[in-house]
Amino acid sequence: MPSLLASMVSLPAATKTASENPHVLAKLHDHSHKSNVVSRNISFSGLGFFNSQHKPLREIRILGSSNHNEALVDSTAPISDVPLLSCLEAIERLKTSRETQKGKQQFLAMYSSIFGGITTDPAAMVIPIDDHMIHRGHGVFDTAAIMDGYLYELDQHLDRILRSASMAKIELPYDRERIRRILIQTVSASKCRKGSLRYWLSPGPGDFQLSPSGCHQPALYAVVIQDQSPFDSKGIKVITSSVPIKPPQFATVKSVNYLPNVLSRMEAEENGAYAAIWLDGEGLVAEGPNMNVAFVTKDKELLMPNFDNILSGCTAKRVLTLANELVREGKLQGVQVRNVTVDEGKKSNEMMLIGSGVLVRPVIQWDEQVIGDGKEGPVALILLSLIIEDMKSGPPTVRVPVPY
Ligand SMILES: Cc1ncc(COP(=O)(O)O)c(C=O)c1O
Repeated sequence: MPSLLASMVSLPAATKTASENPHVLAKLHDHSHKSNVVSRNISFSGLGFFNSQHKPLREIRILGSSNHNEALVDSTAPISDVPLLSCLEAIERLKTSRETQKGKQQFLAMYSSIFGGITTDPAAMVIPIDDHMIHRGHGVFDTAAIMDGYLYELDQHLDRILRSASMAKIELPYDRERIRRILIQTVSASKCRKGSLRYWLSPGPGDFQLSPSGCHQPALYAVVIQDQSPFDSKGIKVITSSVPIKPPQFATVKSVNYLPNVLSRMEAEENGAYAAIWLDGEGLVAEGPNMNVAFVTKDKELLMPNFDNILSGCTAKRVLTLANELVREGKLQGVQVRNVTVDEGKKSNEMMLIGSGVLVRPVIQWDEQVIGDGKEGPVALILLSLIIEDMKSGPPTVRVPVPY
């Protein structure tokens, strides 16, 4: 039989790669049904088929399959030098990798419903690759700060993750009370007294299909991260995000689909800013990529965009309550949650970012516009100290003790 591949090199169209060339692919398909292996010493330079050392491939195996992703494999040249590892060897390497890549953050404990327990070994803090959350982004998450051995606003965050799970049509692996107990026990096992707890709900492992119907059992994961860094009150600059905001159906769910949020944050960093602010479909002020925004108006009112189309921030809601104290003291004239225009925001006396990560962070510049007098606003600084005080000595509704 004449060599199909040898004849292919003389084709004028052969300067394209096979995937670009439907004619070549069609012939490969035809051929693969008849014979699985073609051995020839042929140069594929004209086709652009090289191995990593740019040597011409000598023996080409055509893997017979009805699949369109036909693979060409050189069986004589080593594909790569990746070792095949036993389970124990893989775990050893995971440990080494963790030790050599120690970052600023330390992971003190992880719960996984997959192994049904808590581990304090970072090498074992892994999630199955077939979890629907990994390859389809079908998962929800939330956090809670750990301060002086207490979980801050655990119940508020727990309510939100259950709401997110319901909106993402993710069933719960356990009831609310059991999830709550597991989260507290994970923090207890970690011995962490200052840091954060992050947790995820997903349909769990199953198959790689789009539908979660092949996922057998919903999963819960939680990790405790130590964080001893002090809170920062230095004024920061923000820009308006050019990355589109998520539509309300998705922006109101705290799902693991944070690609727009990540790109928005990167855009800010590329422009020497701390965060990029999203405007909604009508051009009104919405939120930051992982925080809410608030203003102090010319009339000395605390003003926050309403939460209809954005994530309902637990910290922002708490700030609204704590701000009433400032109203009583006459430091604020009132508190309002309503639509906020960009013009109103940029002309405000103060602007601030609010969230579990930043707590309350004064903004001193938005795009080219200096906010207020260009210094950290006094209301933002007071609200920051009120939140920290609340974390340290607030009422039992916001502080859950961890039994270590
Ligand atoms: C998109 C978005 N908005 C707002 C917030 C602030 O929410 P919270 O105060 O509950 O952390 C977050 C924080 O996770 C967020 O991701």
